Amino acid sequence: MPIVSITRIVRFNAAHRVYNPAWDDARNASTFGKCNNPNWHGHNYVLEVTVEGEVDPETGFVVNLADVKRVAERELVDVIDHKNLNLDVPFMTGTIPTTENLVLACWRILAPAVAPARLAKLKLWETENQYVEYTGR
Ligand code: NI
Repeated sequence: MPIVSITRIVRFNAAHRVYNPAWDDARNASTFGKCNNPNWHGHNYVLEVTVEGEVDPETGFVVNLADVKRVAERELVDVIDHKNLNLDVPFMTGTIPTTENLVLACWRILAPAVAPARLAKLKLWETENQYVEYTGR
């Protein structure tokens, strides 16, 4: 059976400060640049959620995208949007809130939640010039 992928986009904004608490201020500033600003700053994140699977002959869908949207909004957007990644988001506690770590956390949450479709890729934009991708490997 052919495998088709389908993508839903969700958006959220959040504040963060990227720093390693084990390092001194100078090393944090030189490594993380603007994202190390002590008084926080925000990003308008865009998350592309791609699922894949066989096309169900009864619906013509791989999965109902409305279900993917609902799960992504409940599990991610409602938890992250207008929050501080360092302080407010339980699943980011103890991790440096880079886009890389955020996409890994999003994967852990979404992968079991999109069944029967299979989560194929997450693409997380931090700025319009920069994104990370993860495919579960
Ligand atoms: Ni930043």
